[in-house]
Amino acid sequence: MTPGDSEAEAGPLQVRGTVLTVRRVDAYHAMTVVAPGIAARFRPGQFVAVAVGGPDGAMLLRRAFSIHDVRPDHGGTVEFIFAANGPGTRWLAARRARDVLDVTGPLGRPFPVPRDRVSCLLVGGGYGSAPLFALAGKLRDRGCTVDFLLGAASGDRVFGALTARRTGRIATITTEDGSLGSRGVVTDMLGQLIHDGRTDVIYACGPMPMLRQVTLLARRYDLPVQAAVEEAMACGIGVCMTCVLPVVGTDGITRMVRSCVDGPVFRGEQVRWDDVGTIPFDAFGAPVGTDGITRMVRSCVDGPVFRGEQVRWDDVGTIPFDAFGAPGWEPAGRAASRGGSGGAAAGGAAAGGAAAGDRGPGSQGGGRAGRGSGAAGHPARAQGPAWRPGHGY
Ligand SMILES: Cc1cc2nc3c(=O)[nH]c(=O)nc-3n(C[C@H](O)[C@H](O)[C@H](O)COP(=O)(O)OP(=O)(O)OC[C@H]3O[C@@H](n4cnc5c(N)ncnc54)[C@H](O)[C@@H]3O)c2cc1C
Ligand code: FES
Repeated sequence: MTPGDSEAEAGPLQVRGTVLTVRRVDAYHAMTVVAPGIAARFRPGQFVAVAVGGPDGAMLLRRAFSIHDVRPDHGGTVEFIFAANGPGTRWLAARRARDVLDVTGPLGRPFPVPRDRVSCLLVGGGYGSAPLFALAGKLRDRGCTVDFLLGAASGDRVFGALTARRTGRIATITTEDGSLGSRGVVTDMLGQLIHDGRTDVIYACGPMPMLRQVTLLARRYDLPVQAAVEEAMACGIGVCMTCVLPVVGTDGITRMVRSCVDGPVFRGEQVRWDDVGTIPFDAFGAPVGTDGITRMVRSCVDGPVFRGEQVRWDDVGTIPFDAFGAPGWEPAGRAASRGGSGGAAAGGAAAGGAAAGDRGPGSQGGGRAGRGSGAAGHPARAQGPAWRPGHGY
């Protein structure tokens, strides 16, 4: 393990970082903050969460920004690119050199990098290109070839077109108004680029509809997509569940996962793009009723008033092992065959688990039946140690 790896293992930091520069880059702002610990731990695809509005401001939630670049100057700096569209980002745009910002990072899981020297296509929409350049550097260090496909509504909103043209083997730009590159959207050119670049893997970052479309097209070519999503976030550290989206696990089961800690990078083909913003009926953890199954529910919208006897008071602050949607949850049949406790209760759960295990996305009727039969004998209390946010899978 290199020193950089052990820094990354150490997790995110909260720092008071001094602003070095804030400058306009076409339609965006680029902000550089002195944050040595964050710079040292950074891996491409990770993001920072910045407190905005100052100590007396009313903006409680941090704003998330992909890290564009880190540099060794001043002990370590972090740069991010942002569009000043709302109150928080407008406040940031008004900061000046030597102002101090409260920054948390690096957050989230980075882009995985292939072991082999493969051909990589990096697709960025708008400021979504920002995290792709650090990734490109890392891919080149591994001997991979890097092609770029960047797009936006207009030329001034394509971030990094020059760098892409300078450093990419192929660099294709699209704009909806035709002011830079080809007129159209990135997905119009995707097939041709995959063909020209003999692409092995696609990395994408940008608006959710773009990520969805890139994934659909890549499927035709049987190509994996690593997609960095931008789901609205509140805490950024895995505790509030604001940022969940439905992702199908390798076992075929859909779980609501947190894009801030389980992402923001996901295998595109595992995200249920059409269901983002909902809790699909067949997802584990979906709130469906009083059937004896423990679910993690949101006290802000499902509460704050609950039937006291339905709350598992002793387990508040944890995700109990037997809660549907709990990371590491497995069909109880498998747990029982390992000699799990519970006797008849575990058997009841096994019925539900088996049905659930057979269930893929879309087979909703089967999912309901499975849950129902599991509910009949499911033990109400945990079967093992509880999982706590931050402990990983
Ligand atoms: C992982 C991640 C990386 C991001 N990277 C960038 C980046 O590199 N550059 C950039 O300009 N923006 C980025 N965003 C979006 C950025 O967080 C929002 O533009 C910003 O929070 C808007 O704040 P605001 O107060 O200006 O606007 P408002 O719209 O008033 O924001 C109010 C609330 O909505 C949330 N919110 C609003 N828009 C978004 C959005 N698109 N995505 C997520 N949350 C949102 C904010 O967190 C805030 O809580 C990223 C978001 C995520 C989740
Ligand atoms: S933003 Fe709070 S859990 Fe992801």
